[in-house]
Formats: sequence, structure tokens, C-alpha cells
Amino acid sequence: MSMSRAAPDRLTQSRARMQASDLLRLDLRQFWLVLFGLSGLINILALTGSIYMMQVYDRALVSGSVETLAFLSALTLGLYLFQGAFDTIRAQILVRLGARLDRRLAPIAHRIAIDMPRYGYTTTEALERSRMVDTLRGFLTSGAPPALFDLPWMPVFLVFCYVLHPVLGAVTLGGAVVLALLTVVAEVRSRKVSQAVQQALILRNTAAESHSRNSDVLIAMGATERAVDRFVKLNDEHLELQTRTSDSGATISSISRMLRLILQSALLGLGAMLVIGGEMSAGSIIAVSVASARALAPIDQVLGNWRGILAARQAYAQLVETLAAAPAKTRPVDLPLPKDSLKVENLTVASPATGRVLLSDVSFELKAGQALAVLGPSGGGKSTLIRALAGVWPPLRGSVRLDGVNLSQIAQDRLAQVLGYLPQDVNLFDGTIVENIDRFAEQRDSQAIYAAATVAGVHAMIVAMPDGYDTQVGTRGTAMSAGQRQRIGLARALYGAPFLVLLDEPNASLDAAGEKALNETIRTIRDRGGIVVVVAHRSNVLSAVDLVAVVQNGKLAAFGTKESVLANRSGEVAVPAAIGGGARA
Ligand SMILES: Nc1ncnc2c1ncn2[C@@H]1O[C@H](COP(=O)(O)OP(=O)(O)OP(=O)(O)O)[C@@H](O)[C@H]1O
Ligand SMILES: [Mg+2]
Repeated sequence: MSMSRAAPDRLTQSRARMQASDLLRLDLRQFWLVLFGLSGLINILALTGSIYMMQVYDRALVSGSVETLAFLSALTLGLYLFQGAFDTIRAQILVRLGARLDRRLAPIAHRIAIDMPRYGYTTTEALERSRMVDTLRGFLTSGAPPALFDLPWMPVFLVFCYVLHPVLGAVTLGGAVVLALLTVVAEVRSRKVSQAVQQALILRNTAAESHSRNSDVLIAMGATERAVDRFVKLNDEHLELQTRTSDSGATISSISRMLRLILQSALLGLGAMLVIGGEMSAGSIIAVSVASARALAPIDQVLGNWRGILAARQAYAQLVETLAAAPAKTRPVDLPLPKDSLKVENLTVASPATGRVLLSDVSFELKAGQALAVLGPSGGGKSTLIRALAGVWPPLRGSVRLDGVNLSQIAQDRLAQVLGYLPQDVNLFDGTIVENIDRFAEQRDSQAIYAAATVAGVHAMIVAMPDGYDTQVGTRGTAMSAGQRQRIGLARALYGAPFLVLLDEPNASLDAAGEKALNETIRTIRDRGGIVVVVAHRSNVLSAVDLVAVVQNGKLAAFGTKESVLANRSGEVAVPAAIGGGARA
């Protein structure tokens, strides 16, 4: 699921993937040795219990010395304290490691989540990428990593058992091997299913999101139950897969626990036999029992945490993929802000989601102070053109240049001064009107906000609202009327007085007063030397523009001065449909 436009060659891809996994492993590499060493200490100290038992049984009890017992106990207590301290340190390191990883990855993942929808991913899928970071952090703070770090120290306990008696060592080893095989079985069985589980979950959540977004329609036309049924079906599919993984995980985990119990009793029995045969001391029985339990505990924990481990591995793989697909961050040279021209050359645009070419071979040029109205039938490609001019959809071929500079060469943080964009479906940010206009700017520039609102002709409308500029617009702007949303969207596009203003059907929800204001807006932008490209279905905006283009069937069907284009094409179907319907004029 590469997100880059032109499929990069394999070498580039695998190199990107390598860099991405390096990025992920960076933190772990630094702490790897520390964690490994700490785990060693913890595991060696974990022998304390076994040795204490042995000493108590074989020494203190035999000699009957209370002093020895007290000394042993004090020593043991001290060692336990150390073990506890090391354990705490290890856990704290892992928590901080998780937080650091999160802090570094979350912004990258979020950037990608913002980028993904234009490539045809659903918002649910996009947000899932951000959640991958949560999954990884959660994993680092779970019981799994300590168990994984304990695993390599298992031989300590095996050797201890072996020293007490080779037979007991061999039996413990046998138990370890069986448990390890169980881990392999768990791995093989769950590998495929867990991916399917995640897919099913995304499908379910996508449906849930779309249903709640369309709640008005569902309620008004009595489709709620059908939506619920659809959700239930997807949920059932997810549950079924989930049950299957949980089942196999739980079964394997139970088997492992049972095996451990059997093994422990077997060791006790065997130990007793060896003691009866005079081959071993009584204290050793208990020591072996404790040590063998400890030897097998990490495997048991790994199996118990298997789902978490799988989830983390999957999250890791997906993050590597995602990071590898993320565009490299470049810092273009700061060029002077454009002020002369917009030049579109042989622009061909394909949908980044489907690859289908939606607009081909469009060329035209606009000079500062000019305004272009884009007309044409529905589905003709007007919004596609605007998206390409805005740089949201990268050109497949050809270029969009401002003063000769390719749009992609303009630094992100300067785009605000270069480009203003009002999309056809105005979605406002969750926040106040002022936050929408200045797009969460760190420093409030009241002057620029006021300027944008006045040029957009919305200042009076905003101050008339209960909280004025601080009025909350509601989720996706739903607390505003469609016309209000559109006008706030217009002010948002004009903030910072950008050189190129792209308006996709800005008058769709406007009343007569709003349209008049819009014409004023276009004239003001032209007067200050800006360029306006405005898509319109209704002819009202035409009074403020000097150029007209007709986009039809993904082609530029006409381009020229308002008068010439309208005169030439008045007999055709497309233009009257586009501009003749000025019923509100
Ligand atoms: N996100 C998308 N992914 C794939 N195809 C798309 C996407 N958006 C639009 N299209 C397709 O591109 C073509 C042009 O759509 P576009 O939105 O540019 O039309 P339009 O001229 O703006 O129409 P309208 O006047 O209805 O807004 C349509 O055939 C449409 O199906
Ligand atoms: Mg459109």
C-alpha cells in the first residue's frame, strides 16, 4: 500500500523501508544493552528464593541455629529488595521508551493520517495509523517486553537445576522445549487471522462512522434499523474472527499453564525419589521447584501476552510501511512570494485513489489582477482542476507554476501567503470561528483576521453571533448554517491575503446579499493584485470576473475573455446549463 504517486522502484522502496525501521528501532538500540543487563541481574537475583530454601532446609534446620536462619533471612531480604528495585527500573525504562517512541512517531503518523484521505483511504483507516503508535506504546508498557528480556536468561535457571541434579535439569529443559514449541504453534495459528481481525475491525468502524455522519438521512427516512443491521453484520464478522484468535490464544495459554503445573509436580516427585535414593538433599527439592517455575515463567508470560505481541508486531510492520511511504521532508528554498502569474501547462490529473485520469492536458495562464470563472456540467472536472491548482492532487503530468515556480517547490509554511482554497464541501475545524479563519495560528493576528473577514464580507455576520469571533462552529461546523459555513470558509481562504484564491462553488449556499458580497470579494482580490479562480454553476459571479473557462469531460473546452467565450458557446448545452440558470439574479 504505497502512497507515492509514481510507483518507486524496488530498491528505493526497500531502502525507504529500512530507514523507516531504523527510525523505529532507534530508541530500543540505545537501551538494548541496559535492558539486557538489568534483566540479567534480575534473573540472577531471582535465584535468591531457591537458594534461601536450600540453605534453610539443609543448613539452618539441620544445625538448628537461629542465628544462621536470621542471617540468611536478612541477606535474602536484601537481595529481594535489589531485585525489586531493578525490576522497577526496568519497567520505568520501558515506559519512558514507549513515551519517547510515541512522542517521536505520533506527529509523523498524524501527518500521514492527514495525507491519507486524498489517496482514497477512509478516515477510519487513516486514524488507525495513529492508533498503531498507541498500540506500540501499550505493548512496551505491557508484561510482554520484560518476559521477552527474561527469555535469554532462562539458561541461568536450567543450569541451576542441572547443578542440583542432571536429571532435574534435563526434565526442566524438556518442559522449556515443549513450551517453546507451543509458542511456535501459537505463532503459526494466529499469524493470518490477526490481520483479518484488523481488517474486519476497520470495515466495521468505517461503517459506524459513516452511519453516524449520515444520522439525519437515516433517521428521516427510517433507515436506522437497516444501518444497524449492516453494522451488526460487520460486527459479527469481526467478532467471529476475534473469537477464533482469542480461542486459540486462550487454549494455548491454558495448555502452557497446565504443563507448567504438571512439570512442577513431576519435579517434586522426581526430586523426592532422588532424595530417597540419597542422591540429593531435601532442600534441593524445593529449590528446583522454585527455580524451574521461574525458568518457564517467561515463556508462559510470552504466551499469555501473545495477542499483544502480535498486535505490536503488526503495528510495527504497518508503521514501517507507512513511514516508508511518507514523503521525505524537504525544505525548499525560500523564494520571493509570487505576484505576477499563474501558469498551467499540459496539466493532467489522475485521482490519487483510483489512478483514473480525470482531467487531461489543460493549459492556460492568468496574470495578477485577473479572475477566471470555471464553468461546466456536473462531473466535468471543475473541482479536479481546483484541487490540482491547490496542490491537493499532484499532477500526473504537466505543471502548475506561480511566477515560474512549481507549486511543489513552495515551502509548507509559506503556502498560507500564497494560496487560499475554499473546497466545494466546506468542512470547518472543530473550534471557534476565529480558529477556523486563522487555522489554529500560534499567534493571533487580529488585523489579518479582521481583514480576511471584511474582504469575505462576513464581519457583520460574525459579530452578530452570540459569541462573535469566539463562537464554536460545532463538529465539522454543524452548528452553523450551510451559508454561514461557506462564508466562514471563504474568510478562511482569504486569511493572509494569498496571491492565488481558489473558490469551488463559493455561492452554492449563498443568498442574494451573500452573492453580492462575493462579487465584492473577487473585485477586492483583483484590485490588490491577486488571482481568483472561481467555479460556478450560477452566472451571478460572472460580473466580477474577466475570464471564463469551460471544463467538460475532463478537458478544457473553452478559455478566453468572458465575452468571447459566452458568445461562442451560447448555442451549446453546457454553457446555458452552467450559467443560464441564474434564477436568483
Ligand atoms: N476523490 C475522487 N476519486 C476518484 N474520482 C473522483 C473523485 N472525485 C471526483 N472524481 C471523479 O472525477 C470526475 C470529475 O469530478 P469533479 O468533482 O471534478 O467534477 P465537477 O466538475 O466539480 O462537478 P460538480 O459540478 O458536480 O462539482 C467525476 O467523474 C468524478 O466521478
Ligand atoms: Mg465540483
